[in-house]
Amino acid sequence: MDMQKVPSREGDHNLKDYEQVKQNFSWDKVKGNFSWHETGKVNAAYEAIDRHAEDPQKQNKTALLYTAPGREERLTFGELRNLSNRFANVLKKHDVNKGDRVFLFMPRSPEFYAAFFGILKVGAIAGPLFEAFMEQAVRDRLQDSEAKVLITTPDLLERVPQDDLPSLEKIVLVGEGEKSAPVYVDYEKEMEQASDAFSIEWVDLEDGMLLHYTSGSTGKPKGVYHVHNAMIQHYATAEWVLDLKQDDIYWCTADPGWVTGTSYGIFAPWLHGITNVIRGGRFSPEDWYGTIEKHEVSVWYTAPTALRMLVSAGADVANKFALSSLRHILSVGEPLNPEVVTWGLKAFDLRIHDTWWMTETGAILIANIPSEEIRPGSMGKPVPGIEAAIIDNEGNEVPAKQMGNLAIKEGWPSMMRAVWNNPSKFESYFINGWYVSGDSAYKDEDGYFWFQGRLDDVINTSGERVGPFEVESKLIEHEAIAEAGVIGKPHPERGEIIKAFITLNDGYKESEELLEDIRQFVKTGLSAHAAPREIEVKDAIPKTRSGKIMRRLLKSWELGLPTGDTSTLEE
Ligand code: WTA
Repeated sequence: MDMQKVPSREGDHNLKDYEQVKQNFSWDKVKGNFSWHETGKVNAAYEAIDRHAEDPQKQNKTALLYTAPGREERLTFGELRNLSNRFANVLKKHDVNKGDRVFLFMPRSPEFYAAFFGILKVGAIAGPLFEAFMEQAVRDRLQDSEAKVLITTPDLLERVPQDDLPSLEKIVLVGEGEKSAPVYVDYEKEMEQASDAFSIEWVDLEDGMLLHYTSGSTGKPKGVYHVHNAMIQHYATAEWVLDLKQDDIYWCTADPGWVTGTSYGIFAPWLHGITNVIRGGRFSPEDWYGTIEKHEVSVWYTAPTALRMLVSAGADVANKFALSSLRHILSVGEPLNPEVVTWGLKAFDLRIHDTWWMTETGAILIANIPSEEIRPGSMGKPVPGIEAAIIDNEGNEVPAKQMGNLAIKEGWPSMMRAVWNNPSKFESYFINGWYVSGDSAYKDEDGYFWFQGRLDDVINTSGERVGPFEVESKLIEHEAIAEAGVIGKPHPERGEIIKAFITLNDGYKESEELLEDIRQFVKTGLSAHAAPREIEVKDAIPKTRSGKIMRRLLKSWELGLPTGDTSTLEE
């Protein structure tokens, strides 16, 4: 297959002369696209929704095309403006102000997006939580952020440990169910009473917008703090990398509980006034292909695990659907296998464009720009305005083709501004003016970056980041477990799966029932994606003399690799 030849269905690209754009680049030029360029006061909700609602050409254009089993709905930019204004009024009534943290814990739905923009319109900070989180995960995030208001559904309420959340003043309940306690706000009732008009809280570019909790290798999940300024980069990368054009139908498959679902599921398309497909419900090859066919999706941003599952589903399934509306496909979150890129050429007659970034970076930094040659297996090159390098532990650049730590020169618009409540953690990301990603990679002679793995113990399962510490902490709460060490084990479809090594307390014996009970314990206490698919009972868990679990050693055992330096191993 010829990767250099751009399949004609991709069409003309927005960013034709990549090298030239890079040379004359300034973020100020990008800022010129926004209404706030002169006043200095902004609100990302205005730029994403209200600006188009005020434009007679666009107010009746479909902004949100919602589709889920049993529910289909369209909202225009005008309608989304009015609904988010109403919700902003509801929040004001309950004394939500600039800088307050308001969390959303609910499935994707039109109400989610109305509420999300309502939060931004009052100047508050939105914290979206993945709907599969269980009590412990919800508790950790709401406690750390000192959330004042939570928006959820009566179904999910049992996972909200209200007694442990002294800062939480109100819970907005969306949809049917019991809503009588004094802290509860009835979404439907109050939305009906609220006005369509709201005067937006104008904020500074550097004021807070989003808090996304994500996992590291140690400690509890940390709150990655993003400001309104990030929208500059969402806007720019939507043009250069997503290649969005006015009549595109765009679908980003990520849930807004993860950063891809906000940066590219909300801001990138709507800052450009593009029709955005939001699909609720679970993955199935038929439903996903069906969504592309039915809504004539033209630009599709998805993830390697989903693509690998489509590969396994086989050509027969794909052939049942008309997929010719697609003209541009992108992937993020985990390594994109070259075989999947090759499969994409056959299945869609299109190249799949890998993109690299992180919760902390807020937007795409390295990508296969559509007008450029693709090297399957490579993440591509840094986008305009971004300087990337491979550095050693001292912060010095290493030569081409040498592996090291993937790093980005500080100062791009969408970079996180803080780790909530944790300045030392924030500082630990930087060395010599570089943001250090923790990913190992190398750069080839032509400037393409090639991902090699994580340098820490963070697990990437189906594109979701899981901290081993969080899983280990939950495991040892189980009455049978004495100690636990958790690693990512390579898996052909999911990238990695979670494997736990445990020791049992006296009086407990290994059995299938016990292991299943442990799996369920993590699943129902933390979240399904954090539950170990494999559990192995050991006599001891290897630890350093200072008591740290030696996950590297567990991994070497698992993979049958040499165990390396074990001089710090406890007797
Ligand atoms: C991994 C997701 C290989 C990487 C937007 C990174 C990737 C982590 C790629 C961030 C890619 C992301 N190829 N690995 N194209 N993109 N990753 O914070 O290890 O959920 O550090 O952000 O995913 O995951 P996060």
